[in-house]
Formats: sequence, C-alpha cells, structure tokens
Amino acid sequence: MTFYLTTPIYYVNATPHIGHAYTTLAADILVRHHGQRGEDTFFLTGTDEHASKVYRVAEEQGLDPKVYVDQIAEKWREVPEQVGADIDFFIRTTDEGHKRFVQEFVQRIYDNGDIYEDTYSGLYCVGCEAFKNEDELVDGKCPEHDTVPELIEEKNYFFRLSRYQEPLLKLYDERPDFVLPDFRRNEARSFIAGGLEDFSLSRAGQPWGVPVPWDQEQVVYVWVDALINYLSALTYATPGEDLRERYWPHVRHLIAKDILRFHCVYWPALLLSAGYEVPRRIFVHGYLTLDERKISKSLGNVIDPLNLVDVYGSDAVRYWATRSVQFGQDGSVSLDSLHERYERELGNDLGNLVSRTTAMIAKYRDGRIPLAPGAEGAPSLDALGQEVETRLDDFDLTGAIDAIWDAVRALNKFVTDSKPWELAKDEANAEELDRVLYALADGIRVVAVALHAFLPETTPRILHALGQPEDFDWSSVTPGKTVETEDVEPAPPLFPRVEAPAAAA
Ligand code: MSP
Repeated sequence: MTFYLTTPIYYVNATPHIGHAYTTLAADILVRHHGQRGEDTFFLTGTDEHASKVYRVAEEQGLDPKVYVDQIAEKWREVPEQVGADIDFFIRTTDEGHKRFVQEFVQRIYDNGDIYEDTYSGLYCVGCEAFKNEDELVDGKCPEHDTVPELIEEKNYFFRLSRYQEPLLKLYDERPDFVLPDFRRNEARSFIAGGLEDFSLSRAGQPWGVPVPWDQEQVVYVWVDALINYLSALTYATPGEDLRERYWPHVRHLIAKDILRFHCVYWPALLLSAGYEVPRRIFVHGYLTLDERKISKSLGNVIDPLNLVDVYGSDAVRYWATRSVQFGQDGSVSLDSLHERYERELGNDLGNLVSRTTAMIAKYRDGRIPLAPGAEGAPSLDALGQEVETRLDDFDLTGAIDAIWDAVRALNKFVTDSKPWELAKDEANAEELDRVLYALADGIRVVAVALHAFLPETTPRILHALGQPEDFDWSSVTPGKTVETEDVEPAPPLFPRVEAPAAAA
C-alpha cells in the first residue's frame, strides 16, 4: 500500500499561525499512522510564493521579491518541526525544479487544445487570488477578506474548464469518496453541476511568477502554479529518482474548506487535461476558530504555534487540536481549553495512569512485570486497533483519539475498581495482583501504540517506562504482547505542570 499525503502550500505574505499548523499536524498524524501499518508513505508540505499578495508585501518592504520570500520561507520551514511533523519534502514554488515542471505541465494542456487567448475583465480579490462574480460579493466586498476586489482587464490565456463538466460529474458519481466529508462532496458536485466557466490560466503585467512557455510576457496564474506542486515535488524531491511512478495517483490532499473549489474542481480538470490520473481523495476540514472568530492573518487574532508549543509541547498541541474539534467540522478553541485538557486529560488521565502503574510495579513487584494475563474486570482492548484504523481510514482523527481516550479512562477505572493497594496487603491475593498489574501494563502498552501517531514524543517515553521495546508497528497494537521485564521504576510525570495558562497568550 502507498500513502502520499499533502497539505496546502501556504502563502508567504505573512508568518504562520495555529490554523496552518492545524492542517500540518493533522496530516502528520495520518502519515505516521499509515507508516505504522507498514505502508510506503510520502508527506509533502511547503510554500506558495508567486502570489500577487506576496509580491506586494515585498514591494511594501522595499525588497526584491526573491530576497523577501527566501527570508520568510525560513519561518514556514520551521512549522513542521514545531508541531512534531516528520515531512519527506518541503516544496517552495520558487524552486527551479517546480518552475520547470509547471511549464511542462501547462504546455501539455496547451498542446492538448485546452487553452485559448481572450481578453478578460473582472473583479480580482488579491486575498483569494481569484476573480469573483458579482453574486459572490456581499455589499461589493469579498466576504472572506472584507475587501473590495480590484477591477482588472487584461489579455489572458484561458483554460477550457467548461469541457470538463461532464467528466467531473462522472468522476464524482463513480467515486463517492473522492471528496470527503459528504457535505463537502455535495458542495463541490453542485458547483460543477451548476455549470463551469473557463478560467484565466495566466496573468499579464506582473513580473513575479512562472513565465508562460509560449508567451514570456505572461506568468502562470498563481493557483495553477500552486496546485501543480503536488506533482512537481515528486519529480525532484529525491535527486535522480522520479517518484511519480511510486506515489501518483496514490495521493490524498488535506485542505480546509476555503480552497475547496480549486482542489475539487479546477485541479482534477487540469490533471485530466494534462493526461494524469486524478487524486485518490481530497479531505476538506473546517476552520479552527478562536473565540468564535476565524483565526486568520487578515483578521489579526493570530496565535503563533511556536508560543503554544514552547509552553505545552507539540504533543499537547496535537492532542488538543484533534480532540477539541470534530475533524471536518468548524470548531471553536480557546487557550483555556488547551490548558484544561493538558492538566485533566494528558496530565491526569494518561500521565497519572502511567505514573501509578509503574510505581505499583516498582513497589509491589520490585520492578518486574509479571506475565499473568486474564485479570477479571480488565477492559478488553482487543477491538481498539481495528477501531482506530477504521476511523483513520475515514480521516476521522477525532473519532480515533476519542476511542483511544475511552480506553485510557477504562484503564483508570480498572485501577480504581481493582484496588491493587488493597490486594497488596494480603499475600493470598498475590496472583490476582500479578494479573491486575499485567493488565495495566499491557493496556498502557496497547494505548501507547495506538496513540503513537498522535503523540510521537510521549509514546516512546511510555514504552520506555514500562521497559518495553520501542515497537510501534501496528501489529503490536494487539493486547498480550507485553514482555517480561525486571527494571520498571516509578515514571516521572509525562506532562509536568504548567503554571500560567496566560503564558500562551
Ligand atoms: N496558497 C494557498 C493554497 C495553495 S494549495 C495548492 C492558500 N494558502 S493559505 O496560506 O491561505 O493556506 C490556506 C490553508 O491553511 C487552509 O486550506 C487550511 O489548510 C489552513 N488554514 C489556514 N487557516 C486556518 C484555520 N483558521 N483553520 C483551519 N485551517 C486553516 O490558500
């Protein structure tokens, strides 16, 4: 099995915020999970640098655009690491390899007869980097950016999107899971069914971008340039190897709803035109909102992911972001809720479970995990692996973490119910105590394997505390694989107390 996952490539007109980190960390969870299942994975993220808005910011700062993007791209390169994401390649659309491939790709579309020249006059929203119809505006403004679009008239090259209406409808009807969740699929399908207009594939009068191969006076429209990254990266990420053979079309795109139309309508049409297969799946998640407002550069209520990670660590941020909001829906988050989940769920539910269990093994069994399966009343975790797998196949990150957390809570309840400290008082209960301690150790091990994709920093520490090999292969999510060990010591807190919740603000 092959699992290639992409995030959007982010605009470099400003620095990253928690909303971008959200997509990247969610993608990492999926990729790591598929890696645990032994699949051949590839994880791509990067930056979208040829936008007009990027060019304008550079101009405002009096910088050459390339100098500007080189500087700010460094900030974006840090995002994956900040959220604990293990990427395979970071693409920048100013890479030579990308630019070369974009030219080749649009040339193929041109040669296939899907491009014609026309003069266009329309309202362009620089925030969206897209032309807008009157009926998409509210009081003459783009509702997304709250700005009045600019009237632009220029000679452009047009892509015959209208030709792809029928092929796209057929695709949507044949592949019900092409776009998920279903309500997003319906949204995309009805947009297509409503009729597709050709769109401008080039821009005139802007020196910043990839030159159109047959007309050096024009640059490729930034959205076309950007979408092609998902393919171009494969041609030069590994020097000397064309990864397209290995990873295309096994690609899944993870995006938020703001860019649905580009990915679910334009991109498959462009691919069909250029003679490529369409992606496996496009999953569209919602917006993370802070205090009921979308977190966005233009609105100003931005949280730098680095601040949160500095205070709580990347695992806690990953946990909070996926657990707090049903993945796929919009949802509101607060910094207080991060603090609360850190203390109550990570610190108490999980952290204390590990501390108590290791402390009891140290105290009552001198650090030895007895191999004694079959404790009465212990939660059965036989189905956990399958449940997590099914949820993650549907990109239901929240459902998966909820199922794991149910297991964590069931283990805590088992500690309370079985009262090992009472059993330890009477030698007659020695065998039962062995079974209880084994059930706890094995349950925690299973949970650690299941949680690994979500908490990649913490889970090795858990296995280490239990003296277990660092084996996160998905087959080890099966209960009963805990090995005997002699040297378990009381584990230090996995999630040490963090004093000031306001520190993250
Ligand atoms: N450059 C384009 C994408 C081109 S992809 C071929 C772009 N860039 S962006 O910087 O605006 O990033 C948009 C994406 O960032 C969203 O689709 C989403 O993945 C992520 N998010 C940005 N803000 C977000 C939230 N507040 N909540 C959730 N995701 C957010 O569009």
